[in-house]
Amino acid sequence: MTKIFAHRGSKGTHPENTLPAFREAVRVGADGVELDVQLTKDQELVVIHDNDVDRTTDGTGEITDFTLSEIKQLDAGSWFKPEFSGERIPTFVEVLTCLQEEGFTGILNIEVKTDEKEYPGIEAKVIECLNQQEWSFQVAYSSFNFSTLENLAELDPTREICHIMYAKQSEIEMVKHVPFISGVHPKITWIQENPEQAVTYPLPLRPWTVNQVGDMLLAFELGLAAIHTDYPEQAKLLLKSYQER
Ligand code: G3P
Ligand code: MG
Repeated sequence: MTKIFAHRGSKGTHPENTLPAFREAVRVGADGVELDVQLTKDQELVVIHDNDVDRTTDGTGEITDFTLSEIKQLDAGSWFKPEFSGERIPTFVEVLTCLQEEGFTGILNIEVKTDEKEYPGIEAKVIECLNQQEWSFQVAYSSFNFSTLENLAELDPTREICHIMYAKQSEIEMVKHVPFISGVHPKITWIQENPEQAVTYPLPLRPWTVNQVGDMLLAFELGLAAIHTDYPEQAKLLLKSYQER
């Protein structure tokens, strides 16, 4: 059965990559939760998608221009809806703790956001946080950046490692033969254009970002491992009715 992964939390209904978005993902029964992790100026792990704070907070500037205490001053909720006013950019540990407190038992997909910035040493910091205690959920690492995945595989061969990609044919072929890659997260357009290949592909496929009903149904029909969606509640309901049809 196709698993439903909440993209940046429940991004469509709550401010992305904030604690309310992650709580909502758990509330609606998402099987997986995806987040994006980056480093502040003082080398603290924070959960945010863009390389700057402009779109999702009331501030401006690159994440690497802010210390953790400075970035914590920003409002990361008002831009989405006034009711989320005062929400903060969470640290990585705050999200892990939140998911644990909410009783999340699915898969946490940690996207190490090194496609535009390098963040040397970020992989070790992520692993160090995870290894501080037992968690109620499983972990899958993911990144667009293949070097990041190589670093993760070397430092932590115990957890799942997935390659995110726009999915050129050469990339799709290449990763099949990389022993430490256990899943592929392609853009949904690759699935739309290559449904036959998707069915026989030897690794689990979890495309992004699957927000249209037709694309969700395509994923269910092809038996894909999972989808990343901004609307996990809607996707769960659609999957239920698909199974009962
Ligand atoms: O992990 C899938 C997806 O999150 C990749 O794209 O840009 O939303 O991080 P993006
Ligand atoms: Mg992401």
